[in-house]
Amino acid sequence: EFIAGLSTPTFGINSSYLGPVIKVRNGENLNFNVRNNLNETATLHWHGMHLPGNMDGGPHQEILSGDLWQPSFTVNQHACTNWFHAHTHNKTGEQVYRGLAGMIIVEDTDSDRLDLPKTWAEDDFPLIIQDRKFNSNGSFSYLPSRRDEMHGMMGDTFMINGTVNPYLDLPNKEVRFRILNGSNARVYQLHLSNGATFKQIATDNAFRETPLNLTSITLSPAERAEIVVDLSTLQGQTLTLQDANNGNTPLLTLNINKAASSVTRVPAQLINLTPLDPTAAVRTRPFVLGRIGGMNGSFAINGVSMNMNRIDHDMTLNEVEIWEISNTMGMTHNFHSHATHFQIIERNGSANNVADYEKGYKDTVILPPNERVKVVVKMTDYSTDATAPYMFHCHILEHEDRGMMGQFTVSQPPA
Ligand code: C2O
Ligand code: CU
Ligand code: CU
Repeated sequence: EFIAGLSTPTFGINSSYLGPVIKVRNGENLNFNVRNNLNETATLHWHGMHLPGNMDGGPHQEILSGDLWQPSFTVNQHACTNWFHAHTHNKTGEQVYRGLAGMIIVEDTDSDRLDLPKTWAEDDFPLIIQDRKFNSNGSFSYLPSRRDEMHGMMGDTFMINGTVNPYLDLPNKEVRFRILNGSNARVYQLHLSNGATFKQIATDNAFRETPLNLTSITLSPAERAEIVVDLSTLQGQTLTLQDANNGNTPLLTLNINKAASSVTRVPAQLINLTPLDPTAAVRTRPFVLGRIGGMNGSFAINGVSMNMNRIDHDMTLNEVEIWEISNTMGMTHNFHSHATHFQIIERNGSANNVADYEKGYKDTVILPPNERVKVVVKMTDYSTDATAPYMFHCHILEHEDRGMMGQFTVSQPPA
């Protein structure tokens, strides 16, 4: 029951809606039993995880109704906040909307060492932000209009971790939010109702090198950020986390009404990243996001829509590349690559246009209308062939489902 008195048919993972938060450590061997008890084919993709192509959970790793999929891999990356979600060919939007998603958190010796809020559900919280639309009988309304197919499915009811009108009772100390935009299509500009500054400590795939003071942060679908809000002088007060993109819609109420039992202080230096060197790039690869086939056509990248039987790019292991991603349309898209992280080096031809909060390890980048970005990227550790390619796509799930996606293999360098 999202709405009191009305029940909503949902999908879930070990749960009636969404899934558990899975906490893993760098270096740990993971073995999953993913059983599909739905009456339809499903998949489960580990978004942000650096892993072999056949464990990735993309559209080629279908789990038929009743089947068991047993991916296993070793965690091989920095501490970060990732997620898992359905990635079924042409069905991702609908399956995620119904609830097939959850958070997977990587911890490591840096996250152990740093003096950050890390007491789960006391000063460290997952926030999966989603918007949904409901029919009068309580069921989810998915793609009721042509506009929703075009712009992506947006709802008028906001929820965090599957709760409508959510609130948290919080201690008067630093509090950490691991924020995931788990929405199908909506872009949020998050800020606090008192205009307070918070510290961003992580981008999609790692901590930042140093915390960044912000009063708002924009997250497009699938982007993550970890932020720390200092509530130590706010005992007795109530704040809201709001979306400035949508008339300051309140998303989460923060009641500062508990006594802090510990103190943390975000360090001035977090970790050292290893940025890729753009001058080492062996080529620039263009990705042009657009449409084909007129008004009733589909979305496309480089003039072609997703085809499961076509490999669009072959990367070579350990080669540095620049990807130039351009949005030729008058609507916002974003771009996500599986398998690895990248760094954003230019927006519209200039490094100065890259926002501070998108500097760091990223796997998803926003592309406002007619913008272009350059990222530097390198495939490491895992080669994969046409039986288990990695995906790149717009993470507005209705665009992905309507063709704005492609596939790449990763080859071993010639001997
Ligand atoms: Cu979040 Cu191709 O996925
Ligand atoms: Cu992904
Ligand atoms: Cu898009």
